[in-house]
Amino acid sequence: MKVLIAYYSRTGNTEKIAEIIKDELNADIERIDDGDKYKGPIGYMKGGFNAVTGRLNEIKPTEKNPLHYDLTIIGSPVWASSLAPGVSQYIRQNRKNFTNVAGFVSCGSGGGEKTLKQMSDECGKQLKASLILNSEDMKSDLNKKINTFINKI
Ligand SMILES: Cc1cc2nc3c(=O)[nH]c(=O)nc-3n(C[C@H](O)[C@H](O)[C@H](O)COP(=O)(O)O)c2cc1C
Repeated sequence: MKVLIAYYSRTGNTEKIAEIIKDELNADIERIDDGDKYKGPIGYMKGGFNAVTGRLNEIKPTEKNPLHYDLTIIGSPVWASSLAPGVSQYIRQNRKNFTNVAGFVSCGSGGGEKTLKQMSDECGKQLKASLILNSEDMKSDLNKKINTFINKI
């Protein structure tokens, strides 16, 4: 099965998860790049506001077409119980090309379920598998939870 992982990460947590999944599945990977639009404390506020109000922002052109993959795994941080705007933009640009979709989110403590529902709604597909990892999970054995997710794929 050919797998693409498309993720956005502002501070590295979602990226860390994406890299582990990539290694486990020997998948291709695409980093969603918003040009550091949400850097620093002002960026944090702006990010939360844009996420919760559904404002999108431009992302750099992506390289890999999900149409050429059996499964696209989308990864996003939870921002105000919502997808990061760059991820929503990515989904909007690629929605027609997803064969199957699975998703994972990284959060501090909550909002993961709502964010995964948003992901599924925006993709117009049920997620084949989903995973929520919070800040406590990030300190523990990530591989165990990630493997449970991978086994559902
Ligand atoms: C703008 C913004 C809003 C956030 N909102 C939430 C939230 O609603 N719930 C939560 O548990 N964590 C929230 N967080 C924390 C992030 O989801 C968490 O730190 C995540 O692991 C960051 O992933 P990253 O390192 O890949 O950027 C928020 C972070 C940012 C920047």
